[in-house]
Amino acid sequence: MDIVLLAAVAKNGVIGRGNALPWRLKSDMIHFRTLTMGKPVVIGRKTYLSIGKPLKGRTTIVVSRDPGFAAPGIVVAPNLPSALAAARGDALRRGCDTIVVAGGAEIYAQALPLAAALVITEVHKRVDGDALFPSIDPAIWRETARSEREPAADDEVSFAFVSYERATAAAEHRPSAA
Ligand SMILES: NC(=O)c1ccc[n+]([C@@H]2O[C@H](COP(=O)([O-])OP(=O)(O)OC[C@H]3O[C@@H](n4cnc5c(N)ncnc54)[C@H](OP(=O)(O)O)[C@@H]3O)[C@@H](O)[C@H]2O)c1
Repeated sequence: MDIVLLAAVAKNGVIGRGNALPWRLKSDMIHFRTLTMGKPVVIGRKTYLSIGKPLKGRTTIVVSRDPGFAAPGIVVAPNLPSALAAARGDALRRGCDTIVVAGGAEIYAQALPLAAALVITEVHKRVDGDALFPSIDPAIWRETARSEREPAADDEVSFAFVSYERATAAAEHRPSAA
């Protein structure tokens, strides 16, 4: 079961500001929807609150240390291994082979060592922000595809869809033993 990190990242590594996305990129929202549809999606509580609702057509698995945190239509997990175990079960039931980890910064940092692939929207500008994607080490990650895009309607800047595969073995991860 592959763990894929899906993120939009500015030139300076920023992914968010004030618990929101610091840009308007409709094309990336469509890209996100396409790549996550029918799959389990793991996110941190703050990202869930910034979205404000479960992701339609996907299983929304929210990581939180708060045992009292709950909301209709989501699965809450007390730590990342539990979230990935729940995601793995969901993916098997759905017959899909991918778990998507969709942020935010805390969750990306913890999931990066477990990931098999990264799908990054490179946002071609520097922005102020308080949430960052971890650095992508070229000794570990090999770029396998790149598609440069000019802004379409409701896109404020140009961007590129970039795929990476792990060039070295991922950290051992057995969700069923978590
Ligand atoms: N550009 C992008 O692609 C993208 C994607 C997603 C999010 N974002 C942005 O990223 C920002 C949010 O990122 P963030 O780092 O502040 O928050 P986050 O990663 O979304 O959520 C952090 C929360 O997750 C829970 N958590 C984290 N590690 C945990 C662990 N090991 N065990 C249990 N719970 C754990 C905690 O929830 P509790 O406090 O409830 O314990 C923590 O407060 C926002 O600005 C958002 O817009 C950007």
